Amino acid sequence: MRIALALGGLGAGPERRARMAQPPGPQRKPAAKPKAHAKTIPGPADRKLDMAAPDLALPPPAPTALPAPAPVNRQLFYGDNLEVLCDQIGPSSVDLVYLDPPFKSNQEYNVLFRDHAGERSAAQMRAFEDTWTWGDDDSDAALQETIALGGDIADAMIALHHILHRSDMMAYLAMMAPRLMALRRVLKPTGGLYLHCDPTASHYIKLLLDAIFGPENFRNEIVWERSGAKNDPKRFGRCHDIIFFYSAGPTFTWNVQHTAFQDYSIAKNYTAADPDGRRFRLSDLTANRPGGDTDYEWKGMRPYKGRHWAFSKENMEKFEAEGRIVYRRTGMPVYKRYLDEMPGVALQDVWTDIRLSSADKERLGYPTQKPEALLERIIQASSNEGDVVLDPFCGCGTTIAAAEKLKRG
Ligand SMILES: C[S@@+](CC[C@H](N)C(=O)[O-])C[C@H]1O[C@@H](n2cnc3c(N)ncnc32)[C@H](O)[C@@H]1O
Repeated sequence: MRIALALGGLGAGPERRARMAQPPGPQRKPAAKPKAHAKTIPGPADRKLDMAAPDLALPPPAPTALPAPAPVNRQLFYGDNLEVLCDQIGPSSVDLVYLDPPFKSNQEYNVLFRDHAGERSAAQMRAFEDTWTWGDDDSDAALQETIALGGDIADAMIALHHILHRSDMMAYLAMMAPRLMALRRVLKPTGGLYLHCDPTASHYIKLLLDAIFGPENFRNEIVWERSGAKNDPKRFGRCHDIIFFYSAGPTFTWNVQHTAFQDYSIAKNYTAADPDGRRFRLSDLTANRPGGDTDYEWKGMRPYKGRHWAFSKENMEKFEAEGRIVYRRTGMPVYKRYLDEMPGVALQDVWTDIRLSSADKERLGYPTQKPEALLERIIQASSNEGDVVLDPFCGCGTTIAAAEKLKRG
């Protein structure tokens, strides 16, 4: 299932505020007449739709009250994501959230959508206007409402207000805070949230996330190298985005991801090869902790002082029969670890291997489109097949496409 949530007003009414303040728990009664409405996707999502584009307004919602939030499944919602999150998504119902909120870049994007074949679509759609300016009643109201909730988030907003005053940055944070609260509410206790931003606001956003999720649930600040070298006058070229990863709690979905070994690492570590060219490295067969049958003599040898065999005698015999053990001149056995059997190196928090070039076939003409491979990596690391993935700022639907491909549903 995937959810696309889209643009609308920024304020949250008292009823919504009350709902945001509620911790995840039993489902709440929805507002009588939510403005946002849902569209169930019958098949793979059409990535060319930006549900936020004003020209794409769907027919108005039926004037009947919607039922209480039901488990979400393969749905696109049209409307302000705050309304949708508060009114239509039940608490603790989502496994993974990825959000890439528009940032105040003082630009309006007039996007000419193209399909995969590069043809222009009939309608030129104004994708979004990502400008927030203080002075807008909405930002003031949003700030007051968040402060009225009390707790760490109120303290964080008050502190930020002391520094940022009634600035555009503060307006942006006032817009983000209630949405992050609402996202925390819909996340399952085992869920994870990835927030994509850049260094302009990342330091402020991290304060909000710490206040909402607890600093102990901060997992990573991922640096994603989004472009090649740039000539930024009088400063180092800015070519990376930041992706914050928080978990809802201490136990969360996590699937280790690997990347291929670098050539230099292979050359340095996998120096030996069988006659058929199969590369391997030699690994120690001892461990520093005992565990089961790990204290025995092997071909006249014992582990180094204070250490134990890493495997049982039965396993050692199996390795021997498979020809996986070789002996150092001292007689100490070591294990042949083949390169082609290794999953690669565990992924670190600096990602330089994923790009979306301007000529990429994947490009749809959407200005802030992210690479599908980036979303695939996040989804694979923090969800399993069948899990619910939510993107509250869906753009041209990158998350939707990646989640569909990976059978999250
Ligand atoms: C930076 S883009 C996301 C790009 C996306 N990651 C992709 O790969 O295409 C942000 C999106 O959020 C939408 N948006 C902005 N404010 C919103 C709101 N309050 N509710 C729902 N969507 C919103 C914008 O219209 C835009 O589509």
